[in-house]
Amino acid sequence: MGSPTGEDRYRLLVEAITDYAIAMLDPDGVVKSWNPGARHVQGYEPREIIGAHFSRFYTPEDRGLGLPKAALEIAARDGKFEGEGWRVRKDGTRFWAHVVIDPIRKSGGELVGFAKITRDLTEQRQAEEALRRSEEQFRLLVESVTDYAIYMLDVNGNISSWNQGAQRIKGYLPDEIIGRHFSRFYTQEDRQHGEPERALETAIREGRFEREALRVRKDGSVFNAHVIIDPIRDAKGEVVGFAKVTRDVTERIKAQHDLEQAREALFQSQKMDAIGQLTGGVAHDFNNLLMAILSSLELAKKRLPDDPQVVRLLDNAIQGAQRGSILTQRMLSFARRQALEPKSIDLPGLMNNLIELLQRSIGSGVRIETDLPQSLPPILADENQLELALLNLTVNARDASVEGAAIRIEARDQALKPDNPIGLPAGRYVRVSVTDRGEGMDAETLARATEPFFTTKGVGKGTGLGLSMVHGMAEQIGGRFVLKSSPGQGTTAEIWIPAAAAAASAQDEPSGQADGGPAPSLKILAVDDDGLVLFNTLAMLEDLGHSVLEARSGPEALDILEKNPVDLVITDQAMPQMSGMQLIAAIKERWPGLPVILATGYAELPAGATQGMPKLAKPFSETDLASTITRLFA
Ligand SMILES: Nc1ncnc2c1ncn2[C@@H]1O[C@H](COP(=O)(O)OP(=O)(O)OP(=O)(O)O)[C@@H](O)[C@H]1O
Ligand SMILES: [Mg+2]
Repeated sequence: MGSPTGEDRYRLLVEAITDYAIAMLDPDGVVKSWNPGARHVQGYEPREIIGAHFSRFYTPEDRGLGLPKAALEIAARDGKFEGEGWRVRKDGTRFWAHVVIDPIRKSGGELVGFAKITRDLTEQRQAEEALRRSEEQFRLLVESVTDYAIYMLDVNGNISSWNQGAQRIKGYLPDEIIGRHFSRFYTQEDRQHGEPERALETAIREGRFEREALRVRKDGSVFNAHVIIDPIRDAKGEVVGFAKVTRDVTERIKAQHDLEQAREALFQSQKMDAIGQLTGGVAHDFNNLLMAILSSLELAKKRLPDDPQVVRLLDNAIQGAQRGSILTQRMLSFARRQALEPKSIDLPGLMNNLIELLQRSIGSGVRIETDLPQSLPPILADENQLELALLNLTVNARDASVEGAAIRIEARDQALKPDNPIGLPAGRYVRVSVTDRGEGMDAETLARATEPFFTTKGVGKGTGLGLSMVHGMAEQIGGRFVLKSSPGQGTTAEIWIPAAAAAASAQDEPSGQADGGPAPSLKILAVDDDGLVLFNTLAMLEDLGHSVLEARSGPEALDILEKNPVDLVITDQAMPQMSGMQLIAAIKERWPGLPVILATGYAELPAGATQGMPKLAKPFSETDLASTITRLFA
């Protein structure tokens, strides 16, 4: 056997090809040859197909349109037909085919048939379709995200796509913004500092840019943005653009800020509460001690021979004890344990009388101006404490001011809505403010100013209890103390005081002002669990000419009363077993006509519970004691 002829060689070649269906058609389209590739792709054995017309590979629809004939005509006319379309396999399944049909001509040009090469592109087409679909889905996904602005930039930073989130967050419609440079989202200042360019450079250099910063919306408003920029690279690694994801985190930052503020406020109030407890406890004990000291000194002074040397020493000691007593009063005020007597007060009237005292207290170097509308509603407060508070504020203002400056005291009628920034329940209030244009306070001083014992005035100059007292008083009467200050600008201290309800203003003062001679000698029962205090009360009562009985507790007092008729009972409030109030109730039941005086150093009783009841504020002097008794028996 010799080597294959040229014709044989071509046949062998065509027979070896399995990926391409190669068939020969006669000029009418009848299949003349069929290679293994054709069998593989279309499923026919050569004997099943040779002699059949090639149009059977077409779908019925395409056959109906006359496509097989047209394909041959094009090939014959143009020298080639090329196209893609659905074709049908022997088993009826369809495949996506790429078809080339070439005419075969004799050397004279006579058409003798066609060579047809078919490739099955189904998989490729499916892959393309899948890719197209996933791209479509991805595009829809990105476009419909509304919580994130997701968009693309070209290499120069011009916007090339824009999703709904971007539209929502930044306010631009796609056609308003696509093609524009992304730097317009930056603030003027950031633009001047070259931030947009730096962001892209960083993204290229580090593979990502991430930042929280202010960005500008279309309407010019500014929001807190969380921004990520990723570079997009092509297959060669060349940067072709950027993907940018921006989130509006204003809400989150605000929530964070609010949380921090709430925490800070809670911490402050817990701190003040803790200090208040401590201060109140200490002051309460001190109050009792000072009372013992004061009354003992007063009694000693009476009984000692009239030696001017000794009297001076005693006066000195009494003065010291009185100063201490004022301090403990302020501490009790801060701890909201001051015995308050809230009543309806006409503020302009009170100020009329007070202004002279204030001006005298601060000296003539600084002038007090007032602005008090006559139409103010009456307020519900303790007159003495309010006067003390205003005195404290005025002195502070004077201390901060230079010679010749003015301090302004102002009052305003204020209606507060629920959830107001002052933090008070809704209602009507009067805001009394003391304003100076003095040195003011820095943030740190301002934050601590109302703490007890906080002072910048140096040892021996300030006690640091002034504002504490004002704060405590304001809280205790259901109001609020607000301090505003900035360094070099001055300070405004506001006391918000509840307006008195119409009914409350009808309360009248205990009227008795009895200066009519000395009180008669009475039989008095004194009740106190503190031996020291009891001893002093008894000593003072005896000194006033009364005869006395003593009891260390409520039950003991009731026992004594069973056996001994008395004219008057004076009782402490805070006692174990039975409080002063409970004792009073028991006495009222059994001896309804018997007068009782309640001696109390602090307001452990709700305001109003002791309304109309004769009271003595601890520590009391012999004079206080005498005048309270006189008032009862006048
Ligand atoms: N009007 C004001 N201007 C500037 N700083 C003030 C003013 N009022 C108060 N302060 C600051 O607050 C601190 C505390 O004031 P507070 O009245 O409680 O105590 P004090 O005035 O120092 O002492 P005291 O009231 O016993 O004389 C002051 O030491 C001062 O630093
Ligand atoms: Mg002060």
